[in-house]
Amino acid sequence: VVAYAAARHITVVPEIEMPGHAQAAVAAYPELGNHPDVPVEVSRTWGVHEDVYNAEESTLRFLQNVLDEVLDLFPSEFIHIGGDECPKKQWRESAAAQARMRALGLKDEEELQSYFVRRMDAFLFARGRRLIGWDEILEGGLAPRAAVMSWRGEEGGITAANAGHDVVMAPTTYTYLDYNQTTDPSSEPLSIGGYIPLEKVYSFDPIPAGVEPEKAHHILGAQGQMWAEYIATQDTLDTMAFPRLCALAEVVWTSKERKDYAGFLTRLKEGHLPRLDALGVKYFPL
Ligand code: ACM
Repeated sequence: VVAYAAARHITVVPEIEMPGHAQAAVAAYPELGNHPDVPVEVSRTWGVHEDVYNAEESTLRFLQNVLDEVLDLFPSEFIHIGGDECPKKQWRESAAAQARMRALGLKDEEELQSYFVRRMDAFLFARGRRLIGWDEILEGGLAPRAAVMSWRGEEGGITAANAGHDVVMAPTTYTYLDYNQTTDPSSEPLSIGGYIPLEKVYSFDPIPAGVEPEKAHHILGAQGQMWAEYIATQDTLDTMAFPRLCALAEVVWTSKERKDYAGFLTRLKEGHLPRLDALGVKYFPL
């Protein structure tokens, strides 16, 4: 995968999720979780689950061992550590987690998550890489070198950029390509919901107004999300990705003054859709 992508000038950035979205790992290695005496199963459905990693030294070491293997495989400068959707319930209720927080002088569970991420930031930096995580890593304090993917809207990205951190904008409001593209979901493949038509994607400005002009260079770009829980076939994936991905591509490489939705539509219809047809891409009809 890495070589195939590299031959096409694409860098694959792996994401190893922590400290949340960890239920499968905790099921396999109960000592990584917060209630080792009560077995947990691998979840049969997606969602945000309460079983998260503990922040013990041994668990951090386990994850750093995992990252070492990841670094051997993936040459990317950035390594994504997730950081999103980590419920703090188990840390609040666990005597061991509370003792760990006291020993580290941390005032709340958000600071424990921040401590966790800082340790990974230092670990990756020492190996010549850079940590990136979803915007929840701002909570409890952003690790010194961390870059942020702003998904819960643009605010996290604006805050991080203004504080001098690099940012990839990925807001649910414009860039979640797994969302519906009409107001009649029955006309579309089953999806997670939402409503992001083509024109909405095109209206996206990767450098939102709140970013101070001298910090704009911290916005590295934007990312379209294609979570695949509901996507069972290549045709459905094509339908969700195209042509919205064309709109996203144009708005991240075009200056704001040169954006032109009517012109985009003409070029799409006359120039690009025939290419997609030739490639057999089952794009959503205009
Ligand atoms: C996300 O969609 N949980 C980043």
